[in-house]
Amino acid sequence: MNKTTTISNEFHIDYCCKGREDVKLRLLAWQDKRGIDRGETLRAFSDIFTYGKEILDSNIYALSFTQVHHYHLSVGEHTLHVALYALGLSYKLQEKGKEVNIRDIVISSLCHDLGIIGRHTKFKNDFVCCYLHPVHSLKIAEKLVPDLSKEAADAIQRHMFPLLPLPPASQTGSILIKADKACTLLELKNR
Ligand SMILES: [Fe+2]
Ligand SMILES: [Fe+2]
Repeated sequence: MNKTTTISNEFHIDYCCKGREDVKLRLLAWQDKRGIDRGETLRAFSDIFTYGKEILDSNIYALSFTQVHHYHLSVGEHTLHVALYALGLSYKLQEKGKEVNIRDIVISSLCHDLGIIGRHTKFKNDFVCCYLHPVHSLKIAEKLVPDLSKEAADAIQRHMFPLLPLPPASQTGSILIKADKACTLLELKNR
């Protein structure tokens, strides 16, 4: 990898982390600990930047780094864990010759929990937050991404399956659920 590529991809990481050095270092360590090589990590951040820029530029995404999630993290950091994990699963499927819509994976991962922002003032309790935040996340995604695909919308709305009874109706939805559950387990284990 030449110097220009490295610098350009580090720009993508910084952009995704909103310039927060502590978040960047923890995310790189998270990828290392999962055995993901730096090339894949840089590729994933580049995809997140390419397909998710309108979300990364939003106020609510910036705000997501200020709300605690899973005891020791922020919603923003969990969001990037899920995006990196979902992209890792997607690259593996692509290597096996399967088609994966990387744009939908990035958009649904970045938006799936944005509806949690402000949970303590807008939801009565954790139970209400659990079943209503996907609906709020979808409304936010529709505003941030005017040409949101049906598949990405479905993935966001149904990402709490099986806690909520509606299963995803798309490959994007299945990948998002796997990534979200796996990241949540790892995050709770590491707290
Ligand atoms: Fe969620
Ligand atoms: Fe999540």
